[in-house]
Amino acid sequence: MKMRYCLYSDIHGQIPQLEAVEAAVAKENPDKTIVIGDLVGLGPDPEVIVQRMMDRPEIDVIAGNVDLWAAQRLDETMTPKSPHQEGMFRMSAMTRGRLSDSQIDWLLKRPFSITYTPEQGHDFHVYHATPYDIGDADAFPFRLTDDELADKLKGFDADIMAHGHIHGPSVRNLDKDGKKQTVVCAAAVGMSWDGDPRPAYAVVDYLGDGKWEARTERVDFDPEEQAKYNENCWLEHGERIAGMIRSGTFWNPDHMPH
Ligand SMILES: [Fe+2]
Repeated sequence: MKMRYCLYSDIHGQIPQLEAVEAAVAKENPDKTIVIGDLVGLGPDPEVIVQRMMDRPEIDVIAGNVDLWAAQRLDETMTPKSPHQEGMFRMSAMTRGRLSDSQIDWLLKRPFSITYTPEQGHDFHVYHATPYDIGDADAFPFRLTDDELADKLKGFDADIMAHGHIHGPSVRNLDKDGKKQTVVCAAAVGMSWDGDPRPAYAVVDYLGDGKWEARTERVDFDPEEQAKYNENCWLEHGERIAGMIRSGTFWNPDHMPH
């Protein structure tokens, strides 16, 4: 049975970038669309993004770490590990203040991961950051070699996996003791950290008989208007978000979040 999955993530409260990706994904004609977490945080319109996803139950939505920071009130129970995280917790509290109770409830019910099995014995495993951590303690950063990534994925044997969180799309083909495994990063919609400011998404095709194909795509997007909007909105460091939207790089390159 053939299946086409389209995936995107890390929308972070940014409406026009989401609309650009949604338009491109519609043209791919997917059988299933999957949003791999981080709908909110770091952006001006979290309540709009959550409501759009609530209104489209045919889309599967997985929890992201920043979604949970906001929805689980982590800023009230966790001690921040760094000044950066302290600022992020303040931002999640302000983000939560914009969400309705039903939107918070909906975010709290998002699953940690989903496994799709288009054919018996052929699994596609999707999670926000890693298959064992939502992203507060671990991630698959750009700098990892394929061998290092294969090591971190020992014991997770799906044919193919997809995640978001690190804000730079890629397809890696790992060799795990002779067995091939594909790992796709679909992120990000809202802002990139890999030097290319264009929003991204991924397409995973199951072709039957255990054959998979994966690719990532970038979407043309003029960032200026949305960057200005971020600069002038309620966000405490809107100018940092604006800089990331314009440049496609993390605002403080010496201290990447992972
Ligand atoms: Fe994340």
